[in-house]
Amino acid sequence: MLIVPPREIPASEITPPSAYLRRREFLAGAAGLGLGALLGPAAAAPLAGAKSPFSTNETPTPRADVTSYNNFYEFGGGKSDPAARAGSLTTSPWTVEIDGLVAKPAKYALEDLIRPSALEERVYRMRCVEGWSMVIPWIGVPLAAVLARAEPLGAAKYVAFESLVRPQEMPGQKGLLQLLPWPYVEGLRLDEALHPLTLLAVGLYGETLPNQNGAPLRLVVPWKYGFKGIKSIVRISLVETEPKTSWNLQNPREYGFYSNVNPRVDHPRWSQATERRIGEGGLFARRRPTLMFNGYADQVAGLYAGMDLGSYF
Ligand code: MTE
Repeated sequence: MLIVPPREIPASEITPPSAYLRRREFLAGAAGLGLGALLGPAAAAPLAGAKSPFSTNETPTPRADVTSYNNFYEFGGGKSDPAARAGSLTTSPWTVEIDGLVAKPAKYALEDLIRPSALEERVYRMRCVEGWSMVIPWIGVPLAAVLARAEPLGAAKYVAFESLVRPQEMPGQKGLLQLLPWPYVEGLRLDEALHPLTLLAVGLYGETLPNQNGAPLRLVVPWKYGFKGIKSIVRISLVETEPKTSWNLQNPREYGFYSNVNPRVDHPRWSQATERRIGEGGLFARRRPTLMFNGYADQVAGLYAGMDLGSYF
């Protein structure tokens, strides 16, 4: 395997916040002029960040697969629905509320919450509970840095996340297409949320997030099944008790709160021992063994010392 050492990116190569946000304003303006259709939902702004040493050196999944094979039920339940339908989502302006057990609750404009000088590129493996995986070059900031700004109080034990509810732009939130109760909600234990691997992503493949991947802000927790990566986040709440999570509400027997990638704990309807890497020869590709904590055991196993992971799945 080719090991590429992390490259230091000079500050001059990193897109300043103002530039990427001006580009978003330009796109919003262009949409008003009817140019949006011309530019298309995939017209993303460049983003950069030095490559984090937390990155895997596995070959990234082709961008075309990462942006066309998605789960985002606000736009329907089919893998191609998000890419086909999420272009309708307005992602600028965007506000994120941080509230609950914090000394400084606040509503932040996205550009005030995420400082582009803090952006990093992290190439992470993603294992979906459905049995497939991808390798994605994310761009984002550690969630811990964002939470620190709100100053969590001692009583805070968990972090609850909430996605956007906007049925007029999200066809999966109205009528017969509704497959889940809205908003989509997720949660982490506070120590999981503060772990340095936990990322709030604003981009992938060197550009702002395509809508179908959760624009403009989503969670990435690489040692948990992909559904923990809540998309289009509008609220982050510090709370005392374990938060509700969408898939657990939908089917508690099949989806637990922890959702750690674990080849030894099968889904009630299928094995979790192996996975199919998207972009590698379709259904006939060799299946890879799934790794404990998706390969991040050295970093995160300690968080679960003494816990029965068969019960806390
Ligand atoms: N977030 C929201 N708001 N709505 C969703 O339906 N699906 C989850 C997760 N985040 C989902 C979501 C699931 S099931 C997966 S596997 C990942 O997003 C997929 O992320 P990707 O499309 O970027 O690969």
